[in-house]
Amino acid sequence: SLSSKIAICGMGSVGKSALVIQFLQQRFVSDYDPTIEELYRKQLGVDNEAVMLEILDTAGQEEYTSMLSHYLDKGEGYIIAYSIINRDSFNKAGEYFDLIAKIKESDEKYTGSGKFSIKNIPIVLVGNKCDLDGERKVTYKEAEKFAKKNNCPFFETSAKENINVKDAFFEIVREIRRS
Ligand code: GTP
Ligand code: MG
Repeated sequence: SLSSKIAICGMGSVGKSALVIQFLQQRFVSDYDPTIEELYRKQLGVDNEAVMLEILDTAGQEEYTSMLSHYLDKGEGYIIAYSIINRDSFNKAGEYFDLIAKIKESDEKYTGSGKFSIKNIPIVLVGNKCDLDGERKVTYKEAEKFAKKNNCPFFETSAKENINVKDAFFEIVREIRRS
């Protein structure tokens, strides 16, 4: 399709907004300003094909997540983010897989062809803040294993150092095209 709607989700302060801003505007936001909800649009080329990317930057802070299911329902693809220096955020990433599965379970696109599986939903797992390797609480290996189990691409990223940011966003576009 010509347009892709993606939502980025994950626990508060893992760096979702910083990733989006680094990807769209090539700059690092060092301040922390908790998101309520932001929608971004950008036309770009992925593998020589134009796409109008709509990125929904969701709230991670619990006080703003009452509308989360509603927001996630509109997505065609998801980036689930955690921080490699925060163990809780990795556990929370697992909860986001379950939440998205629950939301998409009634989606005819995924149920019409047989048995529903989370493995058929376009998702990319992202372990952000990889520049802070000295404070690491989640190993690359365990996250990779978790991603493999869910059949989704996995990247460790740094919004600060601009590591693997573009790759993660391009990969979710490819996942949507493949679905
Ligand atoms: P919510 O909107 O509340 O859900 O948080 P968020 O996930 O959008 O986090 P945000 O992007 O606002 O980043 C939180 C803090 O982490 C900010 O101070 C960022 O500058 C910092 N940060 C984000 N990404 C990185 C990174 O890759 N490395 C480092 N060192 N800090 C980062
Ligand atoms: Mg944010």
